[in-house]
Amino acid sequence: MSMPLATLPLGRTGLIVPAQGLGCMGMSHAYGPADAAESRTVLARALDLGLTFWDTADFYGHGDNERLLAPLLRTARERIVLATKFGLALPGAGARTDNAPTPRRVRGDPAYVHAACDASLARLGIDCIDLYYLHRVDVTVPLEDTVGAMADLVRAGKVRHLGLSEVTANELRRAHAVHPIAAVQSEWSLWSRDVEHSVVPACRELGVGFVPYSPLGRGFLTGQLPPVDTLVEQDFRRVQPRLQADVIDHNRALVAEIEAIATARDVPAARVALAWVHARVMQWQLPVVPIPGTRRVARLEENLAALDYAFTVDELRALEGLAARVRGVRHPQLDLTSAGPRD
Ligand SMILES: NC(=O)c1ccc[n+]([C@@H]2O[C@H](COP(=O)([O-])OP(=O)(O)OC[C@H]3O[C@@H](n4cnc5c(N)ncnc54)[C@H](OP(=O)(O)O)[C@@H]3O)[C@@H](O)[C@H]2O)c1
Repeated sequence: MSMPLATLPLGRTGLIVPAQGLGCMGMSHAYGPADAAESRTVLARALDLGLTFWDTADFYGHGDNERLLAPLLRTARERIVLATKFGLALPGAGARTDNAPTPRRVRGDPAYVHAACDASLARLGIDCIDLYYLHRVDVTVPLEDTVGAMADLVRAGKVRHLGLSEVTANELRRAHAVHPIAAVQSEWSLWSRDVEHSVVPACRELGVGFVPYSPLGRGFLTGQLPPVDTLVEQDFRRVQPRLQADVIDHNRALVAEIEAIATARDVPAARVALAWVHARVMQWQLPVVPIPGTRRVARLEENLAALDYAFTVDELRALEGLAARVRGVRHPQLDLTSAGPRD
């Protein structure tokens, strides 16, 4: 039985989601091996708790993440809002039409959009994706063509709502002119606030919802991340610029400031970090639905408590300048298109 969890409209296209989502990436990707049985237990518990806005991508585990979700998704299809993404091409996925010699990693050509969607639907075992994101913009294809193909998917009944990930404000406006966009998903947290310069204001202006990814700073903001050199080789965080030897002590001292606030309230630092993201709803008067990721039931349950955390004015003031003091860029491949800065 689902317990009631507050819901809200994400954007103006009619998509209703719980106030907090679940990031499923770590169950198959980025943070080293995960126990599939434990992940399925987390998914089942998420269903019980009403955490039914699930975030995946075809790229995560080369399709394995979508396959992992499929059995539970089918048993509770009506209750789950399934979001997946395309655009970071899987090896061999999708038919190219131009015989280019080397496959690109980022792909947004219309033929690929259709092929990627069909492949995701097959892996997920469903006939319609609730929210379909462009994972990264393919700057070699007019964005209007990519979004036009995504709009075709809506008309074909294969997708209900469209989203974009890691776009600029200008790209969001161009895409939104082709087809209404329900949500933008990009990194937004206590240590990553660059979206506030132009993307978040554009979302508010256009009535587009925001889905902050990595709201816990990929675990670092919880103070619970083990030393980076003890993480398994496949763990993305080993190459996270902000966790490298030359800056980690500085950045860890910033997390200590979050921990100090948490200790004074007798709560885990994770709760303060996630609650700060939830508090953006009030600050920006915008639907903001973070998708913290976890492979553990206890953390799933803990993260729900962030919805009930009320900041004092002093706490918010203390946290306000933290992001500006972080050292290191937030991602080693900030521009995954390799095409230089975009506007
Ligand atoms: N659009 C994009 O380009 C993009 C990029 C990255 C992520 N995402 C999406 O965003 C979701 C969330 O981001 P993320 O997983 O990168 O980072 P995150 O949610 O900021 O942090 C996840 C990490 O924090 C740990 N954690 C979770 N809850 C915790 C708690 N209460 N206490 C201590 N540690 C806790 C998790 O460990 P355990 O798993 O061991 O619990 C995991 O290592 C992903 O699952 C994915 O769906 C999208």
